[in-house]
Amino acid sequence: MYTVPKLTNFSSAALDAAARDLLSALEAEAAAIRGDSEYKVFRDRWLARKDGVNELKTKITVVVEATLERLQGGASADRLLAERVDITLPGIRRPLGTEHPVIRTMNEIVGVFRNLGYSVSEGPEIETDYSNFESLNFPPHHPARDMQDTLFLAGQDEKALRDRLLLRTHTSPVQIRTMEKLKPPLRIVIPGKVYRNDPPDASHSPVFHQIEGLAVDNNIRFGDLKGTLDHAMKALFGSKVKTQFRPSFFPFTEPSAEMMVSCFICGGSGKRGREPCRPCKTTGWIEILGCGMVDPNVFEFVKDNGYDPAKVSGFAFGMGADRIAILKYGVDDIQLFFQGDVRFLQQFG
Ligand code: PHE
Repeated sequence: MYTVPKLTNFSSAALDAAARDLLSALEAEAAAIRGDSEYKVFRDRWLARKDGVNELKTKITVVVEATLERLQGGASADRLLAERVDITLPGIRRPLGTEHPVIRTMNEIVGVFRNLGYSVSEGPEIETDYSNFESLNFPPHHPARDMQDTLFLAGQDEKALRDRLLLRTHTSPVQIRTMEKLKPPLRIVIPGKVYRNDPPDASHSPVFHQIEGLAVDNNIRFGDLKGTLDHAMKALFGSKVKTQFRPSFFPFTEPSAEMMVSCFICGGSGKRGREPCRPCKTTGWIEILGCGMVDPNVFEFVKDNGYDPAKVSGFAFGMGADRIAILKYGVDDIQLFFQGDVRFLQQFG
């Protein structure tokens, strides 16, 4: 380490030589500095020198500051080297998904009813026998239970029938669940997945989607049901479609009906040019949903929450969202909706 020599000769040549020695020692030490702690010792030792001549001091200061700059500049240069970004590379293109056609159809249908003042309700896909059947007026051994091939959960035999768990076969149990929670008047739509023990084919799937509707108030009549659904079909399929109601049966509605819409593919003619219209099987009508006036027996189950069957009335309906999507988009196989083939789904982007 450099120490300032004790001078005996003060000739200007001797002083110059001593200054040169001092500066070159400074430069040599400065060049060897690595890192902050070394730098601080170096700085304090050189700048605190009382033995330095003033003009040397300025030079010393310059070298000390340059050393700091080198350290900092060096550090950021190292960082730059490590974090080098090639701004000429193309970005990472992340494929953007789109709404699945069934979900899109459900959202559209829900939107139509939202505009009529309906709110949205949801319920569990694993249901009790009570909510899926009993409270909807399906008696224990009534053949109506066979209308819907049910998938039961294993290990339920020990339980009382009403507590047994199953995969809901329709969205109708959410009618009861909602009426247990909310008092009338009520206007709700219920979109969701439902399950039936159907072998998959072009028009069946063990999982599919329904949208349920329920309106309860004082003095709701069949005309309200017809007007509401007729409006909804025109909003969904175009103002030209006609609706038609045919008698039907559901344990939880009385009277019950199936609603048909005039075929929006062939305009009701049953023909497409010279070809027969397949979606409506040449009849000009497409069956679109089941509906009816809420059976008073259903209200009995929620009577204590303000649904006295003598005072309130209502209508309910349920439609298959997949079927509607199939018709709307001209898809010929329901399985395509569930196979997740991007080439199929991309077409709806
Ligand atoms: N839940 C019935 C079905 O799945 C449809 C329906 C709902 C009928 C509401 C009437 C009222 O077939």
